[in-house]
Amino acid sequence: MVHTYEQSRHNPPTILVIMGSIRAVRRCPQIADWVIDIAQKSSSLKYELIDLAHWPLPMDDEPAIPETGSYTNSHTLAWSAKVAAADAFVFVTPQYNWGYPAALKNAIDHLYKEWQDKPAVIVTYGGHGGGKCAAQLKQVAEAVEMRPMPTMPGIKLSREAIVGGPVHPETDFQEAAGLIRQAIGELSAALERKHSFPSAL
Ligand SMILES: Cc1cc2nc3c(=O)[nH]c(=O)nc-3n(C[C@H](O)[C@H](O)[C@H](O)COP(=O)(O)O)c2cc1C
Repeated sequence: MVHTYEQSRHNPPTILVIMGSIRAVRRCPQIADWVIDIAQKSSSLKYELIDLAHWPLPMDDEPAIPETGSYTNSHTLAWSAKVAAADAFVFVTPQYNWGYPAALKNAIDHLYKEWQDKPAVIVTYGGHGGGKCAAQLKQVAEAVEMRPMPTMPGIKLSREAIVGGPVHPETDFQEAAGLIRQAIGELSAALERKHSFPSAL
């Protein structure tokens, strides 16, 4: 089956906030919710949280390469429709061993044109903010022709948080909050240029 790609024209634009972690016990939902809260307060865009744990995509199970858009599996078709309908993306992901999680790579690799020419913000977290993860994810995003925003906020986790302790975004992550607002501003402006949507509230 061949999927047709239509650039969506939502008003307000719809942004998928894609969490990189699918671990059974993880910090990602709490951090992603905090990022969404900041984003909602600083833009007029619509945000939808995507938990890849709810989008099971077996690795390498499509016969054709994703660039053809010829998908055979219902889960790939559903994922394709979800991503195709989005106007832009915010990735909120931990750094794993200096890279980004395999589940996120797998979700990106299942598709191709659905990502194309859409702005993306990359927010990472880790002991030093996850900069190595951000650099790798930026490179892969560019491979599928997303448009990564120049500001890539890195959230620094304490040693206690890294080993499973609680995180308190409101107090612990203030350093990153301004950069998240800045990155969302860049995203809004990119969408405004592309679709002539108002970027400010
Ligand atoms: C497989 C794995 C690899 C990790 N590698 C790194 C790393 O390279 N740098 C880092 O700062 N933290 C690393 N950590 C610690 C994570 O930053 C921390 O566990 C964080 O809570 C993971 O996000 P999550 O709970 O949302 O999955 C790693 C954790 C896991 C599970």
